Parts: sequence; structure tokens; C-alpha cells
Amino acid sequence: MYKMLRKMLPIMRPVHWLIVAVICIVTCYWLLEIRLEHAFKPLTQLANRDRDPHSEHTAIHHVAPTLDNFNYEEQLVVLYNRVPKTGSTSFVNIAYDLCKLNRYHVLHINVTSNMHVLSLPNQISFVRNVTKWHEMKPALYHGHMAFLDFSKFQIAHKPIYINLVRKPLDRLVSYYYFLRYGDNYRPNLVRKKAGNKITFDECVVQKQPDCDPKNMWMQIPFFCGHAAECWEPGSDWALKQAKRNLVNEYFLVGVTEQMYEFVDILERSLPRIFLGFREHYQNSNKSHLRVTSSKIPPSEATIEAIQRSKIWQMENDLYEFALEQFEFTKKKLMQPDNKHLQQFMYEKIRPK
Ligand SMILES: *[C@@H]1O[C@H](CO)[C@@H](O)[C@H](O)[C@H]1NC(C)=O
Ligand SMILES: *[C@@H]1O[C@H](CO)[C@@H](O)[C@H](O)[C@H]1NC(C)=O
Ligand SMILES: *[C@@H]1O[C@H](CO)[C@@H](O)[C@H](O)[C@H]1NC(C)=O
Repeated sequence: MYKMLRKMLPIMRPVHWLIVAVICIVTCYWLLEIRLEHAFKPLTQLANRDRDPHSEHTAIHHVAPTLDNFNYEEQLVVLYNRVPKTGSTSFVNIAYDLCKLNRYHVLHINVTSNMHVLSLPNQISFVRNVTKWHEMKPALYHGHMAFLDFSKFQIAHKPIYINLVRKPLDRLVSYYYFLRYGDNYRPNLVRKKAGNKITFDECVVQKQPDCDPKNMWMQIPFFCGHAAECWEPGSDWALKQAKRNLVNEYFLVGVTEQMYEFVDILERSLPRIFLGFREHYQNSNKSHLRVTSSKIPPSEATIEAIQRSKIWQMENDLYEFALEQFEFTKKKLMQPDNKHLQQFMYEKIRPK
């Protein structure tokens, strides 16, 4: 060993020794620095978060995988902010019947005295709670609540909004008799106006408040949302906002008159929750359950009187807009030949 070193030494001149020494020192310093850096990592990160130009780069590397790993099926949250008397109970009943089988949760949002607008503190706690409550996911939330824009609350993943609309006069008449006679769903519950025998026609002639067209201002504010102007009957701004939200913020808005088609599109698009809804809707008695008792269809004169009101015209405008959108969505499912579902794929992928 010693002899070997002796043999090599004459070859190494002082210059070589110097180089070896420098390399040794540099290596030692480098190793030590790595150890120190690891030891002080939490502190360094805290101190440099705002200043270090590289920290932004690191942040992207940390965030990207979590966005990529977002499980769209298991994290699915559908929010159905149902408008009263649009046939929503039938739909929600199917959801309750199938929640155990399909392994998702259904939750009813109960707001003090059925109010449709949440207070500001409730808005933020509701939005955060829905987003963070992972044990409930996948989930279908439903409640008589105006549209609430999740993007105002620092939320990364907004829920999927769905809804149903109904012809405004049908809805008003249904609500009118519902308050007087209830329905076959909870037949023994005494309703607000029980005992009042005035028909809708008589009410219109007598210009009583219960059949005032202002009571039809309901679907517009539900789609418009939590702004004050949304709740001003006859506001053009509210109608525009409702239409904008309907196309920009809602995944699907169906019409009560075409419940099966609504369920069909949902099942095809979001099977994680809606699998089996079609079949259940057709075969179970429960889904058609809720029928308002003693409903008398309004007379021609009543219909004409209501249709002259500005509120009806605006509410009907929204209904027609929603219907047009829904028909369009339905058509695109099977076009161009109306026999096969539309397909899509990727091709011409370069470079190979
Ligand atoms: C909402 O909660 C209140 C208070 O607990 C209750 O009285 C009411 O029946 C609930 N509403 C519905 C629709 O279940
Ligand atoms: C959401 O609210 C419910 C009811 O108040 C509560 O039990 C639950 O822990 C909350 N979840 C989160 C993640 O805050
Ligand atoms: C539907 O109702 C009829 C009688 O009312 C009953 O015999 C039948 O079993 C029901 N079907 C389902 C799927 O519940």
C-alpha cells in the first residue's frame, strides 16, 4: 500500500497537489452546504417565499399534479337550485331512491323560513362547506335557493349546476291550488290558504294578490341570483342576467314538460350520479307522485288577462329561451342522422 503510494508520488508535482487540495475543499464545502440547506429548509422557505424568483416556479410544480389528479367522478358535486312548483319533487325522489345503490349523497338545503337568498355569512360558509365536505362526495344538493356564483369565493372547483323550468302560468296556477289543497305527497299537511275556495279565475277577476302576475317573478330571479336587482319584478337587467347565467353557468336546464329527456341527458353525461335514472323514472310509481289536488285549468279570459302582463311576458321569454336551448342540446345528441349518438375522437397526432 505504502509502496504503491511512493510509486505514484514522484509523478505528482506540487501543482498537482494544489489541484487535489482545492477539489477536496470545494467538495467538502458543497456537501456541507447541502446539509445546512436541508436543516434550515422550513425557515428558508418562509423567508424567501415573497422574494425568491424561483419560488413561483416551485409553486407551479407543486400545484400542477394536484389539479391533474382531481378526480372528476368521485369529487362530483351537482347543485340543483330548484324553483318551487316546477315538478322538482319527482326528480329529487329518484335521486333519493338511487343514492344508496349508486353510492352518492343527496342533501337538502334548508334555509330559515324557506328564504331564497342567503345572507353573506351564510354564502361563504355554504360555499366552503360544500367544497370541503369530502365525505359527502359525490353529492347532489337541492334546495329552493337562487343561483349562487361560487367563483366569487376563492373556490378552485365549482359545482355543476342543473335546473328545470316550467311554463310560468302553469307554475302559478299549480302554486295557487297547492296552497289551498296541498297535494297527494303530504295530503294531511294543512296548507297556508287551506279552506279558501276561490278559483284561480275568480281570483283574477277580483284582482286578489295571490294571482297577481308579480307572483310569477320567480324563475327569472332564481336564475339571476343573489343581486338586489334580480328581485325587482319587471327588471330587464334581471332577465338578461338570468339568460346569461342559464347558458354560461348551468350545465343543463330542462323543462318540466320533458322530464324524461332531462333525465336521459343527465344519465348520459354524468353517469356517476345519474346512472339508472331513466329506467327508474319510467318504471317506478313514486317518480310521478306529486300532483297538486283539485287543480282547475284557467279559462281563456284568465289566460288572456295574465298574458297581457309584462311579468308574464318576461317570465315566458326566459322559459322560451330555456326551451330553445334544451331542444338544441337534445338535437345535438343524435345529429346528423337522428339514429346514432354523436362521436368524437383525436387523430393526426404529431409528432409521432
Ligand atoms: C327546515 O327546518 C325547519 C327547522 O328545523 C323545519 O321546521 C322545517 O320543516 C324544515 N323544512 C323542510 C322543508 O324540511
Ligand atoms: C359542513 O357542515 C356540516 C353541517 O353543519 C358539518 O357537519 C360538516 O362537518 C361541515 N363540513 C366541513 C368540511 O366543514
Ligand atoms: C306501482 O303501483 C302498483 C299499484 O299501485 C303496484 O302494484 C306496483 O308494484 C308498483 N310498481 C312499482 C315499481 O313500485
